Amino acid sequence: MQQNEQNDSQQKPLPTNDSVAVVTGAGGGIGRAASLKLSQAGFKIVAVDFNTITGEETVNLIRTQGGEGLFIQADVSKEEDVERYTKATIDTYGRIDVFFNNAGILQKFSLIENLDAVEFDRIMNVNVRGVFLGMNKVLKIMNAQGFGSIINTASTAGIRAEHSMSAYTASKHAVIGLTKAAAIEYVRKGIRVNAICPGGVDTALTQAVPMMMQESGYTPEEFPNMRIGRFAEPSEIAETVVFLASDKSSYMTGSIIAVDGGLTL
Ligand SMILES: NC(=O)c1ccc[n+]([C@@H]2O[C@H](COP(=O)([O-])OP(=O)(O)OC[C@H]3O[C@@H](n4cnc5c(N)ncnc54)[C@H](O)[C@@H]3O)[C@@H](O)[C@H]2O)c1
Repeated sequence: MQQNEQNDSQQKPLPTNDSVAVVTGAGGGIGRAASLKLSQAGFKIVAVDFNTITGEETVNLIRTQGGEGLFIQADVSKEEDVERYTKATIDTYGRIDVFFNNAGILQKFSLIENLDAVEFDRIMNVNVRGVFLGMNKVLKIMNAQGFGSIINTASTAGIRAEHSMSAYTASKHAVIGLTKAAAIEYVRKGIRVNAICPGGVDTALTQAVPMMMQESGYTPEEFPNMRIGRFAEPSEIAETVVFLASDKSSYMTGSIIAVDGGLTL
């Protein structure tokens, strides 16, 4: 191997007894399911959410199943909050092995010509700025460590367009762009950055979708059965997160993984 092809990674097999995973949106469907499965896999969990009640519930569930966890209330779109949750993680556990950069929100369904710029900014703030800020702080920590795995939650709307969801579609395409950009910048530094693209998952986020589709006057042909015949359980998405967090995915970086029951076929 040539000198310039060598990887200067100090990565150790994950998880070790000290391994720590930070999960944003940990109070909700996919984030909670991933927190529980990452905990079962051996990670200590720092659960971050806007919502204190549901975030603390997740940590209680982690403790009930014998794991260790800490809840930090934060808005991922606010830089001072992102500073706070990353600092609290380092102050408590001294490291971040895995970052599941997952918090996101769905837009009010609307044609572009009717989309309020305030609504556009609301979606971009959480889904793009939040994902950027998380990587901005966590990559600095992981780079100093010399190891880490980041998993960003995009969507099938990051791969294809969803009708009446232009801001959400643009935001999730941006998550994929940020994932690839981060992956290439850290490819020889022991840090892997991948994205998952769920299709329809049975969470609070999708509960309002049928009504919003009816109001918007457009229903995609694959709805309501999401092509495979059903929505995903959050735990089915979480399995892929655990895989990307672990060394079983050691040769994967910059990968954009659809977990969508064939939705994007
Ligand atoms: N459910 C689906 O069908 C689906 C499909 C594709 C992608 N996704 C993506 O998966 C991710 C998780 O979605 P979910 O379905 O679990 O939704 P959810 O609404 O069940 O959970 C999202 C969690 O994120 C938290 N959150 C929202 N805004 C926040 C903010 N600014 N700061 C901190 N926390 C915040 C919420 O309080 C909630 O606990 C999102 O990024 C979403 O876009 C979901």
